[in-house]
Amino acid sequence: MNAAVEKTEKSARGALLHDNLGINESGHLTIAGADTVELAKQYGTPLMVMDEARIRRNMRIYRTAMERSFGKGSYPLYASKAFSCKYIYRIAKEEGMGVDVVSSGELYTAVNAGFDASNAFLHGNNKTDADIVYAIECGIGHIVVDNMVELDRIDEIAGARGVVQPILLRLTPGIDPHTHAAITTGKVDSKFGIAIETGQADDAVAYTLGKQNVRLDGFHCHIGSQIFDVTPFCDAARLMIKYIVSAREKFGYEADILNLGGGFGVRYIESQPELDYADFIERIAGFIRAEVKNSGIKMPRVLMEPGRSIVADSCLTLYTVGGTKVIPGFKSYVSIDGGMPDNPRYALYESDYTVKLASRMRDGDDFVCTVAGRCCESGDLIQENVPIPTPRRGDILAVLVTGAYNYSMASNYNRIPRPAVAAVSENGSVHTVIRRETFDDLVHLDV
Ligand code: LLP
Repeated sequence: MNAAVEKTEKSARGALLHDNLGINESGHLTIAGADTVELAKQYGTPLMVMDEARIRRNMRIYRTAMERSFGKGSYPLYASKAFSCKYIYRIAKEEGMGVDVVSSGELYTAVNAGFDASNAFLHGNNKTDADIVYAIECGIGHIVVDNMVELDRIDEIAGARGVVQPILLRLTPGIDPHTHAAITTGKVDSKFGIAIETGQADDAVAYTLGKQNVRLDGFHCHIGSQIFDVTPFCDAARLMIKYIVSAREKFGYEADILNLGGGFGVRYIESQPELDYADFIERIAGFIRAEVKNSGIKMPRVLMEPGRSIVADSCLTLYTVGGTKVIPGFKSYVSIDGGMPDNPRYALYESDYTVKLASRMRDGDDFVCTVAGRCCESGDLIQENVPIPTPRRGDILAVLVTGAYNYSMASNYNRIPRPAVAAVSENGSVHTVIRRETFDDLVHLDV
């Protein structure tokens, strides 16, 4: 390859956000080496394509870094709300991850995939009796308790089955991580958890320690999502350690587990950084070690719950272009055969995405447009002001970094079937992990 071509290749790759993406000799976008245009032909669109090696790499980064930085007994739980299906729980099991599940449905999927419930933590701010019964009967490892009404039910349900259920208490440390308001969760007025600041955490610990059928293993907090700065995590850790110290003083109770939740940011667009998660973990660990040393408590086992940063960059979504609409003096649209049913994140949060014309990666980006879905809803947009080559009907358009909170938040609005999900495995072969919904699937619950 001559120097000029190599330079173009490099800048083209640089513009592709992550190094599992590329451009092949046909000028097509590739993921994990697979030609996206060929995959779109083979599977139809919309299609989500996952890079399995990337998922495994991300899981290994967390596993290795957490054990190295925090010591044995510290490990990551994959927050499976980001993308929940049998395939991902099988990988989590093979990679030695714990999982965080937030409903009986996620737990059922995990167990159905052969994941051992004893490595799962059940979350949720309103666990139903059915959730609690199901989780305890599955042998759930831990329940992360949100409030005392729920604790009473867990205690009763466990007691009736002769089980002592391990739990954590979810606390709100009162941190604002300055991310989107809808994904901020650690502030005092959050719907999640029990506030430290109001004294309610103390009441909860005292109450929990008086229960016969639960075992309090420690505390949990989660401050928010898509956070790029290490400071809010250290702030949360400082407040949680301070709380562990005060619980020891007040109740003689010493926490074994400190679960700091998830939230590490992911690069969706060029202007965002690509975080080095191992380095992030080491910086948080260094901070925690110093705090623990100063406070004289024993080093807790630290858990974290990454969701987005495990799956987001492993995936892209492919659509077929329907056409363009140019409104002179106003704006231009490109319409695609998916939209908010498979990716509601722009409609909900105005989330950033990078859009590429996968079938003509070497053409100039001469068309600045809004990517519009096919729903009967003006807000059904995927992104605005994106420069791409002028698209033609039948071109394949790719939205990058769609592995997290896309399929898991998908709906059948307008009775649009959910897309298929295919995975490129480590040996380069491609297989279906979720088949495309059919019209029969759409009506199969209707009576
Ligand atoms: N742990 C708990 C208790 C959580 O609530 C969450 C996310 C996580 C871990 C994982 O956070 P992550 O590492 O993925 O940032 N639907 C929104 C994101 C909602 C996040 C909810 N909780 C979105 O599409 O951006």
